[in-house]
Amino acid sequence: MKKPILAISLGVALFAFGCQSKVDKKEDAQETPKQEFAIDWHSKSNSLEINPQHVSLDIEVDFDNQQIVGSSKWFLKPEEGTEKAIFDTYQLQIDSILYADGSKAPFKIGSHDEILGAALEVDLQEDTEELTIYYKTGEDATALLWLTPEQTFGKEAPYLFTQGESIYTRTWIPSPDGPGYRFSYDAKVKVPEGLLALMSAENPQKKNADGVYTFKMDEKIPAYLIALAVGDIAFKAVDERTGVYAEPSILDKAYNELDGIGQMVHTAEEMYGDYRWGRFDVLILPSGFPMGGMENPRLTFATPTILAGDKSLLNLIAHELAHSWSGNLVTGATWDDFWLNEGFTAYIERRITEAEHGAEYTAMLWDLAERKVDDTVEKIGENSKDTWLKMDLKDRDPDLVFTRIAYDKASALLLLIEQTVGRETWDNFLRKYFDEHAFESMDSERFIEYLNVNLLDENEEWKKTIDIDAWVYGPAKPANYPTVKNTRFEKVDQQVSAFKEGASASALETKNWSTHEWLHFMAELPEEVSLEQMQDFDKVYDFTNTENSEIASAWFIQSIKSEYKTAYPKLEEFLYEVGRGKFLYPLYEELARTEDGKKMGQEIYEEARPNYHPIAQRNIDAILN
Ligand code: BES
Ligand code: ZN
Repeated sequence: MKKPILAISLGVALFAFGCQSKVDKKEDAQETPKQEFAIDWHSKSNSLEINPQHVSLDIEVDFDNQQIVGSSKWFLKPEEGTEKAIFDTYQLQIDSILYADGSKAPFKIGSHDEILGAALEVDLQEDTEELTIYYKTGEDATALLWLTPEQTFGKEAPYLFTQGESIYTRTWIPSPDGPGYRFSYDAKVKVPEGLLALMSAENPQKKNADGVYTFKMDEKIPAYLIALAVGDIAFKAVDERTGVYAEPSILDKAYNELDGIGQMVHTAEEMYGDYRWGRFDVLILPSGFPMGGMENPRLTFATPTILAGDKSLLNLIAHELAHSWSGNLVTGATWDDFWLNEGFTAYIERRITEAEHGAEYTAMLWDLAERKVDDTVEKIGENSKDTWLKMDLKDRDPDLVFTRIAYDKASALLLLIEQTVGRETWDNFLRKYFDEHAFESMDSERFIEYLNVNLLDENEEWKKTIDIDAWVYGPAKPANYPTVKNTRFEKVDQQVSAFKEGASASALETKNWSTHEWLHFMAELPEEVSLEQMQDFDKVYDFTNTENSEIASAWFIQSIKSEYKTAYPKLEEFLYEVGRGKFLYPLYEELARTEDGKKMGQEIYEEARPNYHPIAQRNIDAILN
């Protein structure tokens, strides 16, 4: 099988993978290690030539103009003879660029590409190691979501949050914006009085009088992990290194749901080694947050839709925490290698869940994950190259291509390896992998090589059983797809059969079912569920009014299929209030299947669209047009 070619030299002296650059220089532990990878289609920056080490941001958040204005000062260690520094930008207005001595640096902005934005090319002088870029953000900065007071829980103060992954940091910071390159940062951020600012960095725990906050992230991170949130936000500690941030009106609710995160960090550390980021705090955002969660280091961003009241949706926090090892510590080098972030993380998420809730419970999550792979393969076609783990995102917008394959097919591969080599051996390998590549990036080719050298080469049988190339460079579900015995869904299946044979909702045995059992039950329902049956369910379980977002969205899907109009007002409310793509896209897709449904979807969308994040808007525009 033909594999993508490894990186080609960029025309500078190159060194062994993962080694420090400039051998003749004295050892400097702080220096960003130079690594060279498969080509990053999505960054125009010449980061390997200019070696950005650190950036100091000095910015002001202007809610009135919905703009970020300020400067980013870059500390570079250019390779000898490098004449230009190239940064990624997207519709940034560059006002001026200064050298360290205050003189003006000539620069040029390249042509605009819809997906990638424009390269900012700055002339370097022979000894340039510092460049300060003065800039303003453009009108549709994808990374920024500005919320009006009405779009927050408190309804009184505006709110701003950023979403950098995958290629949006360039819409608010001129930067080498690729996952294969890392640097540290600090920031001074001015916000309106009365608001708190937080970043993926050392954070304040309360507001100050002047609205000026300073931040520090000493660890090297890729650009997509720089994050900022500004709003009427308060903090409550869980233990000495974990806590919860949220708007005051939902802080107690958030705290009650999340008071187990301190323990969760310990659980993860026991399996995969020390947590390397200092604090682990969670920020619960307003409902317009388009993701479930985002693993911003030191401060996970999470949707309020996980606040179900019964801690049943905390695997999402386990997931974002798991990224502290896979993704944030060892980072997929290009977006083609996204599975190295998300697949490892989905695997670790389930290991954390298993440690906390047992194997029987976690088997349900494995089962639901396999269903997502099946659904995705069905949707995009089993021969589509987008079902390979290694993606080919050249000329494509990563966020429009990412699917559950990177999560659930990839985590199944890791489960297969676990089942083949044994859990202890596999855990030892993972600990070593994270440790030896901490604060580095990794591509698919190099991972496979590392896996072979450090694990599979010792046993040809293992290698044959796993056949990793069939997973990474092959379509759909390989024949050796692992299965997990799932007794709890077997019981659900019995109830599905009973229902299909005519049992009424009240006759079903559903005592102690968790969210996951209900999701499986709803996914297994026949296409045709009658209005009487829907009503019957509502009478017994009141699904239409459930506070559980996962169950609500599955129920609304069924309601659309059954044209169960009783649920429509709540469905409408849900679409209006919730900004999480995972729920929105399937619902709009289901609506778009019929003429009437599509009309209804378009009407709701017209009003709800301003509530959604630009990423979500783009996706839903595509669904409804
Ligand atoms: N890193 C992702 C979010 C992401 C993915 C941002 C792709 C941009 C592009 C995050 O860790 C994630 O996977 N979130 C999931 C939740 C998880 C439990 C599967 C989500 O948001 O649904
Ligand atoms: Zn993730």
